[in-house]
Amino acid sequence: MKIKNTKNFIDFCNEIGLKTFFSDIPVKKFNYNINNNALREKNHTNFPNDNQSKQKLLKNLKERVEKLDCNLKKTSTNLVFGDGDINTDLMLIGEAPGSEEDKTGLPFVGQAGDLLNLLLQAIKKERKKCYISNVIFWRPPGNRNPSLDEINMCLPFVKEHIEIINPKFLILLGSIASKTLLKNSLGITKICGHKFEYELSTKKIACWPIFHPAFLLRNPYAKKELWLKLCEIYNFIEESYENKF
Ligand code: URA
Repeated sequence: MKIKNTKNFIDFCNEIGLKTFFSDIPVKKFNYNINNNALREKNHTNFPNDNQSKQKLLKNLKERVEKLDCNLKKTSTNLVFGDGDINTDLMLIGEAPGSEEDKTGLPFVGQAGDLLNLLLQAIKKERKKCYISNVIFWRPPGNRNPSLDEINMCLPFVKEHIEIINPKFLILLGSIASKTLLKNSLGITKICGHKFEYELSTKKIACWPIFHPAFLLRNPYAKKELWLKLCEIYNFIEESYENKF
């Protein structure tokens, strides 16, 4: 740009928000966060995204789940719907409630839940600032694997659950959650910690299948491998928070 007229140049700078263009100290001239926000706006789903609307949508979803004609309701005590911060960036999906979860109606409160809390600490996330649910809403008797029918019955509701929470990042705990939501048949040992994309209705989000905490309790040697993967996940999340312009 040729500066023929200083006054015009100053007016132009003021107009585009460059108030301080001669300075001895470096000044961040543009507010890149504004651009980031604009991008985020563009990425919003069709679901309203404010706290009150989310609460309403979740209440409505839970009511419809409660009405499902699922055989697991007969043998379980409580529906385990979800727990945590509904405005979170990070959602986690496990497999199915165990006995502690069945008693309390909350996901991941047993031994596997304690280990999950440690895994979250590794990526510097507090559990209460994440949102956690499962691909199955009721405890399968004797903690057996859920059947395909049970999975397929819950799946549309699980997908809607993710749409409503509208996270930026999704972690799938164990092979059943990862096969169900990534629609692939790859074994969890092959894909643990690999980054996939999960498609919401209007955007794609980063998604990582990882070992289920209950698997880690049975196979503690796998913790080291997972730890390294968690470092990569942490780096990705941190980098995505930084300005990229
Ligand atoms: N295992 C799961 O997959 N989900 C729970 O909620 C608890 C244990």
